Amino acid sequence: MTSEKIHIFDTTLRDGEQVPGCKLNTKEKVELALKLEELGVDIIEAGFPISSPGDFESVNQIAKVIKNATVCGLTRAVEKDIEVAAAALKPARRPRIHTGIGSSDIHIRHKFNTSREDILQRAEKATRFARNLVPDVEFFAEDAGRADPEFLARLIELVIKAGATVVNIPDTTGYCLPHQYGERIAYLVNNVPNIDKAIISCHCHNDLGLSTANSIAGAIAGARQIECTINGIGERAGNTSLEEVVMIIKQHESSLHLYTDIKTQMLNPVSQLVSDIMRMPVQPNKAVVGSNAFAHSSGIHQDGFLKEATTYEIMTPEEVGAGGSKIVLTARSGRSALAHRFQKLGHEFNRNDIDVLYQQFLKVADKKKEVMDADLEVMAKDYQAKEIVL
Ligand code: KIV
Ligand code: ZN
Repeated sequence: MTSEKIHIFDTTLRDGEQVPGCKLNTKEKVELALKLEELGVDIIEAGFPISSPGDFESVNQIAKVIKNATVCGLTRAVEKDIEVAAAALKPARRPRIHTGIGSSDIHIRHKFNTSREDILQRAEKATRFARNLVPDVEFFAEDAGRADPEFLARLIELVIKAGATVVNIPDTTGYCLPHQYGERIAYLVNNVPNIDKAIISCHCHNDLGLSTANSIAGAIAGARQIECTINGIGERAGNTSLEEVVMIIKQHESSLHLYTDIKTQMLNPVSQLVSDIMRMPVQPNKAVVGSNAFAHSSGIHQDGFLKEATTYEIMTPEEVGAGGSKIVLTARSGRSALAHRFQKLGHEFNRNDIDVLYQQFLKVADKKKEVMDADLEVMAKDYQAKEIVL
């Protein structure tokens, strides 16, 4: 069975940049867009052109420099928005307009104060209008995670008829469970007669920590595009994390029969770049790119890892561009890790030496969060001095 491609739609510069404090200027956005292209993302959502002159300028500059990836601009289902996005995207080799409207009754009633029929009309009109300006139009059905499936299917059928090339099914509020989100995508695959004319896209938020699982469930059910951000940054609790979905797909290619074109060795450097320019630290225990993702600190794990790395690592740090695996020495560490570190520091101790040194090590470790090389050097020196006296 041959694998099928999952298109990676990166929205770090749009949904990611909506995070308070993460705003970037045009120069920073262009720098990041070029890195994302090098990383291998298929679509770069560069911004929301009508939202500010600065965002228009950023989308326009990105459209000028990006050569291979599709450059996308967000709009509401409003003609003026769409015209402005098309103008910003004019220099792009592959422009895409991303337009859409609320699809759940909660959004229809409270945000738009209107009816389902009116939403259908607005969606169709906006899609048709956008399709007259660019050949690639993605339609988002906002809050699709909570929409009535039958209505959602009608809406999606209509926008595909109107020219949508990609249909985005956002779980805007991060509400769905993975099996529910997967079923939603499967429902569309089975109930939208023209679904084969468009790519289905997953856009999941992380309010319950399920965005990655939901996106993968969507892909299993037939979606072929995943919308995500570097480090999972985005509105509220964030978006699906690019590095997580990419590595899940890579690790499980033989059972999922899916692949991406992401150069995984660039994941850690790009994560660091985003963290630096957005001044947004990455949590240490973050999958794939956290500073502890390849750190081993308990004695049982360290002993296994030192015997054979695959006992506790399902991917190598090199594969994702991380500096390397780390053995962290704490009060939970064991003798093998201690002996290994002494050896790395150039001290060859036998088993009896290590037994004695280990007692000293535990005393230091109980006082400190982490025992550093400098502490070990002191221990080694004291121990050797005592040995000479004896
Ligand atoms: O979360 C969402 O629904 C969005 C849309 C604008 C695609 O970000
Ligand atoms: Zn979003």
